[in-house]
Amino acid sequence: MKAIIIDTFVTDLSTLHPTTAPLPKLWSPTDVLIRITHASITHVDTLYARGQHQNNRRHAIPPFTLGLEFSGIVAQSPAFSAYRPGDRVFGSALGAYAEYIAVPEALLRRVPRGWGLREACALGASGCVAVASLVGERGAGVRAGESVLVLGAAGGLGVVACQVAKAAEARVIGVVGSAEKERVVRGLGVDVVRYDTPGWEEGVRVLTRGEGNEEGGVDVVYDPVGNVESSLRCIKYGGRVLVIGYAGRHGVMEKIPANKILLKSAKVIGYRWGEHGRRFPHEAERVWDKVVEIAEKGEVKAVVYDEEYKGLESVPRAMHDVEANRVWGRAVITIADEGEVLEEMKASNGKAKL
Ligand SMILES: NC(=O)c1ccc[n+]([C@@H]2O[C@H](COP(=O)([O-])OP(=O)(O)OC[C@H]3O[C@@H](n4cnc5c(N)ncnc54)[C@H](OP(=O)(O)O)[C@@H]3O)[C@@H](O)[C@H]2O)c1
Repeated sequence: MKAIIIDTFVTDLSTLHPTTAPLPKLWSPTDVLIRITHASITHVDTLYARGQHQNNRRHAIPPFTLGLEFSGIVAQSPAFSAYRPGDRVFGSALGAYAEYIAVPEALLRRVPRGWGLREACALGASGCVAVASLVGERGAGVRAGESVLVLGAAGGLGVVACQVAKAAEARVIGVVGSAEKERVVRGLGVDVVRYDTPGWEEGVRVLTRGEGNEEGGVDVVYDPVGNVESSLRCIKYGGRVLVIGYAGRHGVMEKIPANKILLKSAKVIGYRWGEHGRRFPHEAERVWDKVVEIAEKGEVKAVVYDEEYKGLESVPRAMHDVEANRVWGRAVITIADEGEVLEEMKASNGKAKL
């Protein structure tokens, strides 16, 4: 099969290219082999390729196959598995920029009813991060009627967080940096504030002023860009800030004067989905179930960037687009055509041609 393998971390993303690799091994009796049809480009993939992510010290050490989010068709599964060859699935695991991936079935979900493989791929784990951190057992505990400010609202995580907060009956305000991204986020039915306008934090307070909240400010900020200082300015007294990521920091971490937390009696909550999944797998199962439930109800829809990326060869171009901040929603690579994969499987008696 073809795969994009990181033998050594790269400095130039254009040097990434697919090479021939052996089919992934089914290491555990619960492993399922998937023929990948789609893979997403996330901010984390750009860091993994360069060795700049915290996980590059523990979980993603070369050599490894790049890519974290995929959808596809089950090619082989153990006899007792809940999945059968031909099932349409999506999931999140290292090794998505390849024609095949082998993953424990706990890391898979069926494509939500009414969804396509491309859309399910774009949802990926973003739904889990949003559900777990905004309304899950250890997150910010967003309640109906509260207000939630989503930074990086047009990003892969942001578009889903806006919808999850809306489904929780919160009032949602998305923060974006361009007219094109404003259009995308307004399309989700939420208010928008532009961070390229000086003093935008004051704009948030003005928008949220009202009876019982005379100073203005939101109850919760969801921050995947790394702007806790502005987040603290945007919350009301006693508000919560969810620290989710650092997409806007180019590797330089923010330092926050602790008095800014105290002055607002703020709660600053870090949330790390991958590590939570490793430590609390049963909780992660419940989060996945909730994500699929709200996806099937139509409370969350995929937002797929409208550029076409075909084949593993297009991964470097899509990664450049992500790094250049051009992409809204998720950039999705088409690796194989669903119809052709199913035809191949039919021709080889229900199994994929391996
Ligand atoms: N905690 C977790 O469990 C978890 C899980 C997955 C990912 N993450 C992290 O979450 C972050 C976001 O990931 P993603 O895949 O959503 O990234 P993404 O799709 O690239 O989106 C990032 C967004 O950030 C905005 N942005 C970039 N620079 C900015 C700046 N200086 N100020 C304000 N906004 C800025 C961009 O929108 P504009 O054009 O509007 O600026 C963009 O839409 C990453 O740091 C990733 O590592 C965390």
